[in-house]
Amino acid sequence: MNPSGGLRWHWKAWRSLQLWEPTCQDIARWLAEKPPERNELLLIGASAGWMMPSAFLSGFGKVITYDIDPLAAPLFRWRHGKALAASGTALVCQRGDALNHLADVLQQHRQAQVLFDNVLGQIRFHHPDVDEASHRIASIRRRLRGRHWGSIHDAYSGPVRTPVSRRAHTPMMRSVQPPYPTASARKHDRQDTPQRAAFAAFGSQLDADGAWLDHLTGDLFPPGTQVSHIAWPHLDDYCHWLQAAWVEPQ
Ligand SMILES: C[S@@+](CC[C@H](N)C(=O)[O-])C[C@H]1O[C@@H](n2cnc3c(N)ncnc32)[C@H](O)[C@@H]1O
Repeated sequence: MNPSGGLRWHWKAWRSLQLWEPTCQDIARWLAEKPPERNELLLIGASAGWMMPSAFLSGFGKVITYDIDPLAAPLFRWRHGKALAASGTALVCQRGDALNHLADVLQQHRQAQVLFDNVLGQIRFHHPDVDEASHRIASIRRRLRGRHWGSIHDAYSGPVRTPVSRRAHTPMMRSVQPPYPTASARKHDRQDTPQRAAFAAFGSQLDADGAWLDHLTGDLFPPGTQVSHIAWPHLDDYCHWLQAAWVEPQ
């Protein structure tokens, strides 16, 4: 079974289009802030692109999608094919494991701008051992050196006190990725103070209730990256905290 996609995801996404609309608008706003830097976009974890605006994809000459889910390609074409045909954007949908074969996939698409579309926060569900999942995320980051890449992914998720339907949508927040924590700061769970304050403020706006799941993506972006924080009310009583950023070639 695919723990981060497949039929269950499509069913949930289709049924939640209205609930997720404010989040999709935030994602569209974030994507619109940066015009395409390359002619090609490599979209990893594309699924059907339920939360992806066609307008962003249409800015590229070619879009290549990757997903392990056999339903992803036909559904992605169904959702975005018409808009991409209208903009003259070539669409190539690949079924395959782009994370375990990342080096090859990057090599095959050397000129492409890379976007991990809500997939890196799910690695811990594909590798239930937390150390193994963290190690995989760190190795993905290392492989991306020298590439123009971006990611939108779960950072945290958990229950909320007030049902989402009774609250206003939490507006997007920005922060700058702090330096990597030292081993001692990590051991004692010490973040730098501005980061801690910003996170506490966003967490309280999300109305977090109790302990939230850490999706292990906290060190993915290099220090100094401009990060956008987006609220994603997944269910009426359960919210995801998304983080999104572009990283320049380093
Ligand atoms: C939360 S969904 C992504 C949602 C999607 N971006 C959208 O807007 O509908 C995560 C997706 O990542 C895919 N996925 C998980 N591991 C993958 C891998 N190793 N390579 C490619 N896709 C993967 C899953 O099949 C699933 O479709």
